[in-house]
Amino acid sequence: MSKVTTATLLEMKKKGEKIAALTCYDASMARLLNGEEIDVILVGDSVGNVKLGYDNTIPVTMEDMFHHVRAVRRGNSRALLVADMPFLSYENDPKEAVRNAGRLVKEGGAEAVKVEGGLEVVPSIKALVQTNIPVMGHLGLTPQSVLRLGGYRVQGKTTEDAEKMVTQARILEGAGVFALVLEAVPASLAKEISKKVAVPTIGIGAGLECDGQILVLDDLLGLTDGPVPKFVKQYAALRSASSRAVKQFRDDVKKKKFPSPEQTYL
Ligand code: KIV
Repeated sequence: MSKVTTATLLEMKKKGEKIAALTCYDASMARLLNGEEIDVILVGDSVGNVKLGYDNTIPVTMEDMFHHVRAVRRGNSRALLVADMPFLSYENDPKEAVRNAGRLVKEGGAEAVKVEGGLEVVPSIKALVQTNIPVMGHLGLTPQSVLRLGGYRVQGKTTEDAEKMVTQARILEGAGVFALVLEAVPASLAKEISKKVAVPTIGIGAGLECDGQILVLDDLLGLTDGPVPKFVKQYAALRSASSRAVKQFRDDVKKKKFPSPEQTYL
């Protein structure tokens, strides 16, 4: 099992080998993802809604990210470990972006960071790349823009918006990103972007033609409470299985069936 680096991902794109990426928020799941040879682990700021009980990713802080990145780092050895830069930690000030990303890398153990947005974040991306911090871009539905967008919708549906996204992808590539997440984008547009940029595209709700795919781990495992987006495939139903297990435990305790002699020191 050789270590995945940003260079590995570029090589995979060249060979037409798909990149399998997942989000992860703790050490035990990171170990599991490593065991199954997931190529990229993203400590997403989706930790806000997935684990911390927020409605969206806006309230997530650097301290939240730092805490989860360090935990995942302890469980990871093979995957490329990418940390999301949270809302307002990088957008408006390249120096602040370097300071914050530097912490995630130097103290947290992340090997790259991800930032959302296009032209407006190019100064920060350039400053990070010049500081030798690899940057993953993120176009399409950018959850940190949810308040402006007014909800989570497919992006790049009009010809104008699609052309703008292709241009933004090229600009981000020019700024030095090593990969690009495309979220909630029509498959035809994601395919076009994937052809036009040399860096790998990693799709989430962006069709089969991206160079890789990413899902939120809890969505894939069927742990998410409530509806999931159309693009999610639930490979397991752990929420209902967990509910059943907890209910069974409660009933066993109430009925004095647990612990049985098997679980008792005699
Ligand atoms: O925060 C996150 O989980 C993400 C993925 C959806 C790509 O950005």
